[in-house]
This record gives sequence, structure tokens and C-alpha cells, in this order.
Amino acid sequence: MTSVVERLSAELGMGGIVLSERTEVAAYAIDWTKKFSGETPCILRPHNTEEVARCVRACGKLGLKLVPQGGNTGLVGASVPRGGEIVLSLSRLNKIEEFDEASATVQVGAGVVLQALHDDLAACGHVFPVDLGARGSCQIGGMIATNAGGIKVLRYGHMREQVLGLEVVLADGTILNNLNKLRKNNTGLDLKHLFVGSEGVLGIITRAVLQARPAPQALQTALLAVETRDRLPELLTVLRDKLRGLSSLEMITQESITLYKEVEPEARLPFERSYPACVIVEEETGAGESERNSFLERLSSVLESGLAVDAVVAESDTQARRIWSLRDGVTEAISRAGLTHKFDVTVPPAAMPAFLDQMEAFGEEAGELRTLLFGHLGDGNIHVNMMQMPGLSQAAFYAKGPALAERIYGHVAKLHGSISAEHGIGIAKRGYLHHSRSTEEVDLMRGVKHLLDPDCMLNPGVLFESN
Ligand code: FAD
Ligand code: LAC
Ligand code: ZN
Repeated sequence: MTSVVERLSAELGMGGIVLSERTEVAAYAIDWTKKFSGETPCILRPHNTEEVARCVRACGKLGLKLVPQGGNTGLVGASVPRGGEIVLSLSRLNKIEEFDEASATVQVGAGVVLQALHDDLAACGHVFPVDLGARGSCQIGGMIATNAGGIKVLRYGHMREQVLGLEVVLADGTILNNLNKLRKNNTGLDLKHLFVGSEGVLGIITRAVLQARPAPQALQTALLAVETRDRLPELLTVLRDKLRGLSSLEMITQESITLYKEVEPEARLPFERSYPACVIVEEETGAGESERNSFLERLSSVLESGLAVDAVVAESDTQARRIWSLRDGVTEAISRAGLTHKFDVTVPPAAMPAFLDQMEAFGEEAGELRTLLFGHLGDGNIHVNMMQMPGLSQAAFYAKGPALAERIYGHVAKLHGSISAEHGIGIAKRGYLHHSRSTEEVDLMRGVKHLLDPDCMLNPGVLFESN
């Protein structure tokens, strides 16, 4: 009997595409949260679209299932094998192919890492307006497949709003090329949107055309201290009104900052005392002193309203980075500190204070969990993290998950919120999709899946329990 690896190698040739060395395969088979992992015979690492299509056809011929993988920073268990699937890594499709200044568009391979795109565009005075803590590892293809959000959604939207064109390899190996650069192109169904946020179940994204923007002339960054979480909705309204160029509005609760300090004892916290919540604001302004002074004046008027009681304003890029390192550091600290049940939800902003209290109450009632709350305040998007406390066994920790999820998602549904703001459904939330989507919608999603991937070769088990 020949092995899967031998049969795939025979189909694809040995040109360095098939990686089966156990020690090297391991990193592709476990996710960032360390909660999801599985066996895989090998990793396929094609260099270009044609090789991706050959890999897909070879797997189809041999009846093998595929998991597309980008930077493997996804948080819902969809980027790693569950039961013997082959991992198709897009990392080698990592060329920034063309920047077109007139249209401010950039054409990239799916494997381009977000930070590399930021650096490349900065050199031509432009930015790509999606940014998130995983920027050093996440890849454009993975970000499109998850419709990633991040810290600039408030001003620029998710990935979906930046994607003008896509090239996709379908489950039968067909290459669907629509590397459109036009902003206006109403020629029938806009098929690219099917693949944005599809979590690798409909096709493999190989290249994309993205909308870049001219770099802002200046960024003003500040951290605000909030004395009571009850007034967060009012603060949100006032900040949106006073800071018209607002590009980020993030929130971190006290418990999350405390954990950050425990994990990073060397870190200097911006305020001497602790507050129930801190809010990061970033505004895009024109250059020069008068613009800076105007920002300071407008921020002072927010403080005078009493909605925020203290502020640290960044005087330099280094200080701005220090403020942002607190926000990025919380996500990192949580992953380093222990196992966590992660919930990524949206609720109407007005409901947020009561929602935060309710999450802490749920955590307490579940017992031996530490509730860590933070997120993208400007979008009503809260990351609810329920962390294993020392002494709670792994089995007991996992056993708390389903009941907690039912309670939290049930509560979110009552508020007409969403059970997934930005991370997607994957494996982690597939049993709860009905809280945010009707039966008719889920049936139509299944129909689209069946049309594009009738044998369920791509990412089986993701989005739906059975395909
Ligand atoms: P992967 O994890 O490799 O894959 C994610 C999904 O996309 C899987 O279903 C996979 O099968 C599929 N996929 C990957 N590449 C392709 C492709 N080329 N074609 C088809 N399907 C593909 N997310 C946010 O939205 N906002 C945040 O603020 C945010 N912050 C984060 C901070 C940290 C520290 C970490 C670790 C994660 C964060 N995330 C955030 C989650 C994650 O980074 C994003 O979901 C990101 O978009 C995933 O990109 P990736 O390349 O790592 O994809
Ligand atoms: C963040 C991730 C968890 O916002 O989405 O840090
Ligand atoms: Zn987030």
C-alpha cells in the first residue's frame, strides 16, 4: 500500500511542494489558541496559482480533504486539520505584485503578511487601512477568508470594504480570475463577496487587488481613563462628535490591564491608579501645530464633560506605540496566561455597560474563571475571555464551555447582537450559528457550499457541523 504522501508526491512531483517531516508538520497542525489541533499526513506549499490548482486537483483525484492555511492566527479552529485533512499553506504566494498609484490599488499574493504590506505601502506614502494585533503573521488571504476587522473598522471598514478583485481556485481546480481594479463595476453578481468571510469552505484565495489610501498627514493618539463604565455609550457619542477624524476607538477593562501587568511585570502602566476602563482614541488630522492644538482642545472638552477623567496624550510615535502595546499586549497576555473560552460578540453600543456587567456575572456564576473584557468600542465589538483560574483542571475548564456559550450567545441574541463580530464561526461556534442566522439563511449557505464544493473537499466541518 502506498501512503498518502507517496501518492500526492507522485501526482505533484517532488518539486518541494510536499512537506511531510513530522517535526516541521507539527506547527501547521495546532492553532494559535492551542485549543485546536489534529493529525495531517503532510503540508502542501505551492509557489503560485497554477500549483495551487494542481494541488487541489490532485487532492480531488485522491479523495483527500483540504484545509487552507494562511498565517494560522485564526481564533476559531478553522485553519488546522481536524481529522487527517491535508493542509494547503499559501505562505509562498507572498509577492506584493504591483502598486498602481493612480488608482491607489495594490495587487498581492494571498500569502503576503499584513506587516509586509504596511511597510511596502508606507514607502510609497500610502497605507492599507486594516490593522490588527496579529499583523506580524496573518496573511492577506486569511484576512479575506475571515473578513478580518481590527482597530480601524470604525473609519475604513473590514477587509470586505478593501477588496476590489480576487483570484480564487475552486474545489474542482478551476481558476476564477477577477483581479478587478475598478471601484465601479456593476456587471452582474459580485462573486468576490462570496469568498470574503467564507473561511476557506468555498475556494482558495490566491491573489487579491486591494484598495490602499494616502497615508494620513498626522495621527493623534491618547489613552483616556473612565471612572464609570455606565457612561461609555455617552463617551462614544461625544468622541465621535468631537474627533471627526477618529480612526480607532478601543476599550480595555481594568481586569484585562491587571492581567497584562501580571504577565508583563516590566511594563509601565500609563496611569498611577486603576480605573474601571481605559479607552484608546486615535484621530487622523492634518500636519502642524495648529492641528495638534485643535486635537488637544477638543480632547480637553471631552474631559471637561466628565465622561473621561484623565488622559495620557502621546507626544511622539514611540509614545503612541507604547499606548498601542497595552492594547495588543492584552490579547497576547491572555494567550500566555492560560486556556480561555473566547467569545467575540457585537452588541448595540447602548447595551454595552449592562452587557459588560452581565458577562462578569456569568463568569462568576460559572466559577473558577477570570473574566477579561476588551475590544473595539467604536464598533460595539467586545472580546469576552473567560480564563481558566489556577486550580481548575483542564477537563473541568472545558466542561464549562458549552453552558457558558449558550448563556452568552442567548443573551447576545436577545440584544439583537452578533455571536461573531470579526473572528468567524469555524469549528468553535458552528453549533451556535442559529443564534445569529435564520434556518433559511443557513440552508442557503449550505446550498452555496454544495454548488461550489459538492464533495465537501474544502475545510470540512467548518461553519456547519455536517456538510
Ligand atoms: P488563518 O488563521 O491561517 O486562517 C483563517 C481562516 O481562513 C481558516 O478558515 C482558513 O482555512 C482560511 N484561509 C486562510 N487562507 C486562506 C486562503 N488563501 N484562501 C481561502 N481560505 C483561507 N481578527 C480580527 O478580525 N480582528 C482583530 O483585531 C484580530 N486580532 C488578533 C490578534 C491576535 C494576537 C491574533 C492571534 C489574532 C487576531 N485576530 C483578529 C484573528 C486573526 O488574526 C484573523 O482572523 C486573521 O484574519 C487570520 O489570518 P491568517 O492568515 O492567520 O488566517
Ligand atoms: C483583538 C483580537 C482578539 O482585537 O480580535 O485583539
Ligand atoms: Zn478584535
